[in-house]
Amino acid sequence: MKVLVVGGGGRENVIVRKIAESPRHPEIFVAPGNAGMADVATLVDIDAMDLEGIVSFASTHAIDYCVVAPDDPLAAGLVDRLEDAGVPCFGPTARAAHIEASKAYAKSLMAAHRIPTAHFQIAESPQEALSMLKNAPYPTVIKADGLALGKGVMVVKNFNEAELAIRTIMEDKKFGDSGNRVVIEEYLEGPEVSVLAFTDGHSVVPMVSSMDHKAAYDSDKGPNTGGMGAIAPNPFYSPEIAQRCMEEIFIPTIAALNAVQRQFKGCLYFGLMLTKDGPKVIEYNARFGDPEAQVVLPLLKTDLLTVMQAVTEERLADIDVEFSDESACCVVLASQGYPLAYESGKPLTIDPEAADHAYVAGAIERDGTLYTHGGRVVGVTAVADTLQEAIDGAYRLADGVHFENKYARHDIGARALRELESQARRRHQAESEG
Ligand code: AMP
Ligand code: GLY
Repeated sequence: MKVLVVGGGGRENVIVRKIAESPRHPEIFVAPGNAGMADVATLVDIDAMDLEGIVSFASTHAIDYCVVAPDDPLAAGLVDRLEDAGVPCFGPTARAAHIEASKAYAKSLMAAHRIPTAHFQIAESPQEALSMLKNAPYPTVIKADGLALGKGVMVVKNFNEAELAIRTIMEDKKFGDSGNRVVIEEYLEGPEVSVLAFTDGHSVVPMVSSMDHKAAYDSDKGPNTGGMGAIAPNPFYSPEIAQRCMEEIFIPTIAALNAVQRQFKGCLYFGLMLTKDGPKVIEYNARFGDPEAQVVLPLLKTDLLTVMQAVTEERLADIDVEFSDESACCVVLASQGYPLAYESGKPLTIDPEAADHAYVAGAIERDGTLYTHGGRVVGVTAVADTLQEAIDGAYRLADGVHFENKYARHDIGARALRELESQARRRHQAESEG
């Protein structure tokens, strides 16, 4: 069986490695992939947004199955095109991926179907936005409507900051056409949880929960990045909350999408905030999260390819999807200065002990040597019985990755550990009070 994975970062690296573990021994191609995947897949030099190129490669190489991982080609309709060409895919159609591609659309869908989310307004012009922001309670959140690499969200503390944000998004068009519209929304507080779920539009199977670390520096300081690390499971996500999310958010979202003829097949990502009024949706993504995939997929015990095909063929209800009850921690090693200014092109080496647990996100190869390429370079993931051991393991693996100006946060998982400790204290206290 020939499988083509579309995308080229750390997320695609873990997907490729999981598919490579399949007992069905698929032959794997990845477009464009990166040099860190060359040991398990054939790299195909076609950009993920070259839809023509990918469809034509899939046809001429008799690809049996395709996994489209990044948001842009999903929103642009790559799955639609491949399926028209007779290639079954894992991933939503453009119509279904709209739930990520337009935040205004996602909010309207949630409002119409009473799915809990922050209160919001949608502004179509800077004038309209500013008049809404004059009377807004602060802090307030301003979001570019379209895709913006996770960077189109600004929390503003007063009207002056709001004006600046509107200028940046809607007038200077920092995120291009993504800023033609903005969502202005209520600021929510509480721990954040990422829940990735397999769905075929009939059943929804949540994967183990996780926690991203978006800020560049320790203690959640500094600019937002694509993600500096992740842990799973997320200790804030109790079985009671999971049950509520299933009833109030996951099932209603699948039903809402079906009701508007946008049946979703693939991985639907729920970005949730656990507020004092209950769990609320912060965002939907139409794909695996990055770096969440690097902690969630290593815990998947069932063959990923089998699960993906069950999704495509709409028979997810017929299979068991099992996760390990261990913990995972992924630490991202970035180029010093990311996400602002940083240098690429530094020689990159990974010790043999770390190699099996390292998901290269940005590297190129020249004359047999790997060089860093991009801000996030490598994610290392450790799996262990406890979160503490997983964290220690991930930082040990990080020592086995070498490049000049390597930067990592030092506190991935620290907030989750504090929560586990406080849960243990509460349990102990409850027991001693009898
Ligand atoms: P998003 O791209 O929508 O996930 O937003 C990026 C980040 O901004 C989220 O992970 C949150 O940390 C933060 N954020 C988004 N919406 C809100 C909100 N309504 N209240 C507080 N923080 C938010
Ligand atoms: N980690 C957040 C995302 O993938 O969008």
